[in-house]
Amino acid sequence: MCALPIAGIILAAGKGTRMKSDLPKALQPVCGLPMVEHVGRAMQSAGIARPIVVVGHVGEAVIGALGDRYDYVWQREQLGTGHAALMAKDLLTEFDGAVIIAPGDAPLLDADVFTKLVEAHTKAKAACTVATAEIAEPKGYGRIVRGEDGNVTGIVEEKDATPEQRKIREVNSAVYCFDSKALLEALPKIRNNNAQGEYYLPDVLSYLSGQGKTVTAVSFEDPGLLVGVNDRWQLALADKELRHRILKAHALRGVTLKDIDTIFIGPDVKIGVDSVIEPNVYLEGEVTIGAGCLIGPGTKLINSQIGNRTTILMSHVNSAEIGSDVWIGPFANLREGTRVKDGVKIGDFVEIKNSTLEPGAKLPHLSYIGDAQIGERTNVGAGTITCNYDGFSKSKTVLGADVFVGSNSTLVAPVTVGDRSMIAAGSVVTDDVAEDSGAFGRARQVTKEGWAAEWRRKRQSKAK
Ligand code: UD1
Ligand code: MG
Repeated sequence: MCALPIAGIILAAGKGTRMKSDLPKALQPVCGLPMVEHVGRAMQSAGIARPIVVVGHVGEAVIGALGDRYDYVWQREQLGTGHAALMAKDLLTEFDGAVIIAPGDAPLLDADVFTKLVEAHTKAKAACTVATAEIAEPKGYGRIVRGEDGNVTGIVEEKDATPEQRKIREVNSAVYCFDSKALLEALPKIRNNNAQGEYYLPDVLSYLSGQGKTVTAVSFEDPGLLVGVNDRWQLALADKELRHRILKAHALRGVTLKDIDTIFIGPDVKIGVDSVIEPNVYLEGEVTIGAGCLIGPGTKLINSQIGNRTTILMSHVNSAEIGSDVWIGPFANLREGTRVKDGVKIGDFVEIKNSTLEPGAKLPHLSYIGDAQIGERTNVGAGTITCNYDGFSKSKTVLGADVFVGSNSTLVAPVTVGDRSMIAAGSVVTDDVAEDSGAFGRARQVTKEGWAAEWRRKRQSKAK
């Protein structure tokens, strides 16, 4: 990066009428992140620590989503991109350097675009440098008008362009680098006498050019980097493009992807070498997968960490920590607060929430385990259920090491079963079991009429 101080402004106040959505355009997600956040991250990786975001339409939600790594200014009325940029003037009066302005609807921008723009801008000692690209179908974009010396003399919007100008295929990406003083001098001068009655930021370029200042352009070969997303189809295309970029980066780092058309990997996912991702897999939020794992078809992992050589088949894992050499699925549902240590086996139709499974524990089939601690090598038989909730509060189940829980057992929490104990199949375990014991919780059925109502009445009066 060059030595100039650099500031960044992201324009994100617009409603995005063409999206036909209640969500402001800036927050429309691309690969799981709001569009505007992609732009913000690109600026931050280009060295702009705190970009200024111009917010307006549903601005509180935009600020809430982006958080405290940005500065914000408000544009209460959306009078155009030039007016939006003007809202940042108070934060720039003391600043002397290069100001990058980018739209919040260009989620494919990367740090490289900003770096190249600033380099060209500095080299040309320009008042403004705009990022452009030649595209086959320029409809909807502002067209770049150049003078005989090749410098930019202005930008005309599609709606204001003459039929001749509409034939120009070099388009405005709406990503600019300005000299801060020139920008602040020019912004109040632009007028809204155009087809849309808006203050256009691109008009700053013709103003500066008219003042005899240097206005240049950097033409990018890959127009894909610069696309502006105005409607849901462009959103879908941008999502696909970014998804494929993310997939390619993983593939080149040594991950096998079995079907790039149906694998969805978010921007904050890390995967170790020789892991295999099968079709229809979704990896969302902050996910880390170690080396040599198999993530089988139909699996969704959200905000979870997975160790090495672990297999997960057709399962759902949310906010969980999974160790190495673990087997999960098919059809397991691991919910918030699940911690699975190395060598654990979790089989089909097992739901686990807020529980820790020590190394080598086995839950091969059909269980609900909530608020539990399962000891090392403990085997939990098919159909075992922890009754962790009595309608009022949650209680803990603790199984020691090397415990054997017979099939179809019901563990009524709070309850503790000592190391090496055995629970007979079909037991209802209500009392603690000492270590090395056998517990037989089976009895003939007794039905007590009115018992439940009485119990609830007591609990309710206690709760009052
Ligand atoms: C804009 C450019 C066009 C360029 C295209 C590239 C203008 C007038 N036109 O058109 O030359 O080819 O981007 O994608 O700048 N915004 C505000 N406040 C406003 C209006 C807009 O903050 O009052 C924000 C929007 O939220 C959006 C960005 O500015 O993030 C661009 O606005 P948009 O309406 O998408 O402009 P385009 O029609 O795409
Ligand atoms: Mg746009």
